[in-house]
Amino acid sequence: MIVEQVVCGPISVNSYVVFNHQDGDCLVVDPGDADAVERFLTANGLNCTDILLTHGHFDHILGAKGIQDRYRSRIHIHPEDAVMLSSSKDCFADYFGFHYEPVDDFDTIDKDNLTVIGLQIEVQHTPGHSPGSVIYTFKDENVAFCGDTIFYHGFGRYDLPGGSYRNISASIKRFLKEADPETTLYTGHGIHTTVKEEQRSNLIFSEVYY
Ligand SMILES: [Fe+2]
Repeated sequence: MIVEQVVCGPISVNSYVVFNHQDGDCLVVDPGDADAVERFLTANGLNCTDILLTHGHFDHILGAKGIQDRYRSRIHIHPEDAVMLSSSKDCFADYFGFHYEPVDDFDTIDKDNLTVIGLQIEVQHTPGHSPGSVIYTFKDENVAFCGDTIFYHGFGRYDLPGGSYRNISASIKRFLKEADPETTLYTGHGIHTTVKEEQRSNLIFSEVYY
């Protein structure tokens, strides 16, 4: 499995393209800009069958409609953030002054696992940054996509409507306690990290920040 990062948009969100070379199908995590992601897909001969959203904030979903229109991709989001996909107000695009084209056609995640392009994915509901934030773990590959729940030595904001410090703290502690230390964590902004590194140095997990 190959993971490539495409940094998108004015808030520098990390979008990720995940693929095997065999058949050209790929999935995209949090497409922040349809044109930037499409340029990468075209250059590499890839077809996006599925879009996995770690949460519904506008910077992570700005490119969802454009990619879906071009590739007929399925979009997956936790039910508690689904309202954000269909509203430029609820995803905070209006508030931050961005144009967002709503998505009407999507799948809400109703179980704790998905199989996409032949890859098994565990879905953990990790509310706090938003009500429907999730972490996608590819156990066979020791890779997880954690959106804005966990950053390198840190964590996402919890002050937007629907956010909760109590929840993000509990989510991070639970995830880091249970996850394989060797797992690479691909974050929604900034550099990637590992479970082991965050078990040692994350401000919430080490209870420096409370
Ligand atoms: Fe966010």
